[in-house]
Amino acid sequence: MKTPRAYYQPLAIGAPAPYREVPTRLERMIHFVPPHIEKMRKKVPELIRDVDVVLGNLEDAIPADQKLAARQGFIRMARDNEFGSTGLWTRINCLNSPWVLDDLLEIVPAVGEKLDVIMLPKVEGPWDIHYLDQLLAQLEARAGIGRPILIHAILETAEGVKNVDSIATASPRMHGMSLGPADLAASRGMKTTRVGGGHPDYAVLSDAGTATGRTAHLQDLWHYTVAKMVDACMSAGIRAFYGPFGDFSDSEACEFQFRNAFLMGCVGAWSLHPSQIEIAKRVFSPDPAEVAFACKIVDAMPDGTGAVMIDGKMQDDATWKQAKVILDLAERVAAKDPEFAEIYGL
Ligand code: GLV
Ligand code: MG
Repeated sequence: MKTPRAYYQPLAIGAPAPYREVPTRLERMIHFVPPHIEKMRKKVPELIRDVDVVLGNLEDAIPADQKLAARQGFIRMARDNEFGSTGLWTRINCLNSPWVLDDLLEIVPAVGEKLDVIMLPKVEGPWDIHYLDQLLAQLEARAGIGRPILIHAILETAEGVKNVDSIATASPRMHGMSLGPADLAASRGMKTTRVGGGHPDYAVLSDAGTATGRTAHLQDLWHYTVAKMVDACMSAGIRAFYGPFGDFSDSEACEFQFRNAFLMGCVGAWSLHPSQIEIAKRVFSPDPAEVAFACKIVDAMPDGTGAVMIDGKMQDDATWKQAKVILDLAERVAAKDPEFAEIYGL
């Protein structure tokens, strides 16, 4: 364990100082782009206007014989566009793959100045973060990059889940974490063939012999992991995200999965298909009725202390803090999205 002072020292001479806080940004959806496909790269200017984060994917879903084209395509899309307040991320290949070293050696010098976050797949423990942290510091120093590139871990192995707390606190370079339900299912030996979402057989059955008959009640396969991830992230001052939802034909189920994650503390999810952008926008922007109620709480308790009754419900310092979570998010959404600014009246 490092001493507090050493924790915030740059890991290479000439590398930028680590952030003390993760920069505040709206990140309701991380939109995945396959950068080897020119038609997809051409859509990036439109995406920049529409989404909160554009991510060039180099890992799974990119065929082995297209890995180099994806890397070059990502560099091109980063160079050819101005991203403004929209985040620019890439998902590199995993640390034991034959591609990852050149992903980093080529991307950081070429477009590191524009790159906000590197998503690192299949993180098993803090040692994976330490390796990338050190290498990024060396590359940033050599390329003269002025601000640190952050690391976002995918939580998608049984060992990673076991080590989630030490991954979250491994470095001040940590931005946050996403649940990767597809790889995690395989790593855990779950008997499913899906990318996220529920399963019709994962249920509890009500007692036999009741007048209304027996009913099966669906359970959320991801509840335990999302809760564990949110606690690890929030206690470390970093962000938690739900990852992919693979059934593009079932937007309702996607919305339910995203909303469970939102209510549990996640700030966003991945969008793998254009239809999921709107879903994420709707789910990860606070409900206007909740924003209006949160305003009432804050107005009734300007200094955040005491107890008041609003619409028959008791409010105190703790509900004031909940209201602040919702209002702070609503303000970030309103600043980016005039439509929501109008709906919220902010
Ligand atoms: C994402 O990468 C997943 O495995 O779910
Ligand atoms: Mg995965």
